Amino acid sequence: MAETITLPATTDRVALYAALVPQVRELLHGELDPVAAMANMSAAIRQAFGWHWVGFYRVMGAELVLGPFQGPVACMRIGHGKGVCGTAWAEERTIVVPDVDKFPGHITCSPLSRSEIVVPVRDRSGRVAAVLDIDSERPDDFNEVDIHALGRLCTLLEPLFE
Ligand code: SME
Repeated sequence: MAETITLPATTDRVALYAALVPQVRELLHGELDPVAAMANMSAAIRQAFGWHWVGFYRVMGAELVLGPFQGPVACMRIGHGKGVCGTAWAEERTIVVPDVDKFPGHITCSPLSRSEIVVPVRDRSGRVAAVLDIDSERPDDFNEVDIHALGRLCTLLEPLFE
């Protein structure tokens, strides 16, 4: 199994996701440890798009706890319903924030973050087990293409969460 990600020389997101998703699926094939899978998935997404911060928070009791990520240091614990991540967990849905300054309760981990997307990761029973959080330095950087493709990537993690 090749543990590399090869991407087309383009900024077209549809083309990048079309190349990325099958390679991440192959990379994760046979891996049973969710932390290993989240680590390589966050690295692969960052490699493809160069976003400021790409990573996971895991549901641990009443909080989200920082998991594998790529980027600057970040806050380690987020309460249920707090910030964008805690809201995506509580409402069990993907949240796109075009302007982080306009999201009430947004938790600032980096002053460079301008927009954000948070995608829930479900376990085998359908409960939220983690969230994928991506921060961009560009305002309004996430759209339907990202919602769809990042959702597909998160679905690859579902079998790894009991
Ligand atoms: N902005 C997030 C906190 C996590 S950092 O962006 C990595 C939030 O409001 O939940």
